[in-house]
Amino acid sequence: MTDKDKEIEALTTLLELINQMEKKVTVIKTTSYDQLEIIKNILSLHCIKGIDLDPTYSKGNFYKSGEIEQPRIKSDLISKFDDVITSDACKLDFIEDSSLNSIMFDPPFVGGHTKQQPTGIIGERFHGFPYIKDLWKWYDLCLIEFHKKLNDKGVLIFKCQDTVSSGKQWFSHIHIINKAESLGFYTKDLFILNAKNRLIGHNHGNQKHARKFHSYFIVFEKLPKGKINKQSSTIGGI
Ligand SMILES: C[S@@+](CC[C@H](N)C(=O)[O-])C[C@H]1O[C@@H](n2cnc3c(N)ncnc32)[C@H](O)[C@@H]1O
Repeated sequence: MTDKDKEIEALTTLLELINQMEKKVTVIKTTSYDQLEIIKNILSLHCIKGIDLDPTYSKGNFYKSGEIEQPRIKSDLISKFDDVITSDACKLDFIEDSSLNSIMFDPPFVGGHTKQQPTGIIGERFHGFPYIKDLWKWYDLCLIEFHKKLNDKGVLIFKCQDTVSSGKQWFSHIHIINKAESLGFYTKDLFILNAKNRLIGHNHGNQKHARKFHSYFIVFEKLPKGKINKQSSTIGGI
């Protein structure tokens, strides 16, 4: 074998090795039909220590499989378990300011009154968001509260969905991103959860907008005070 042949053989082996290594790398994608896959990917990319607070815990479906650790603190307006604190997500007085590394937020995304009216002081004050504009105002209050409770570089995972209400399109994900950035969050990542099936209502025969088959998981990072948000989705950043 000539020196040239040996060189070619060595190069071929090297190329084969590179090919094998590339095949082994699993690439995290922005879209999935599997909610658990998205949450696991968010945690591995942005939040390796797990979730500190889930203020809309409900039945804790995100954690039921055991693949995602239970959050350190759980709360909900309507608590279903003893270890879930009853609280409005926009008023987290039981949590010290700048003490959280991460928040998982999965709020309601449609207007209308809740079927189940909570009892006590909160119940008297609150039973749902009649209109989307009321829901958006509450989202704003929650974002302000989360910004207060998170550490610098703390991560907020916000699950949301756009909606059509009273014949009008309401792009909640845009409202949320604009508000979060105005408060000093950096929009670090965005995942799209696809749905295979959706209920088709009686009025869908006379469609005015596309039926939504997706929802979002937006990942925000709290910028340290004084740090300017160079990336701003509102002015066409990266
Ligand atoms: C979509 S569910 C969350 C489901 C939850 N991620 C799970 O895995 O089971 C929305 C939750 O938000 C709660 N919620 C509604 N308004 C709230 C408020 N003002 N403050 C806190 N939680 C609220 C509801 O009680 C409900 O449990």
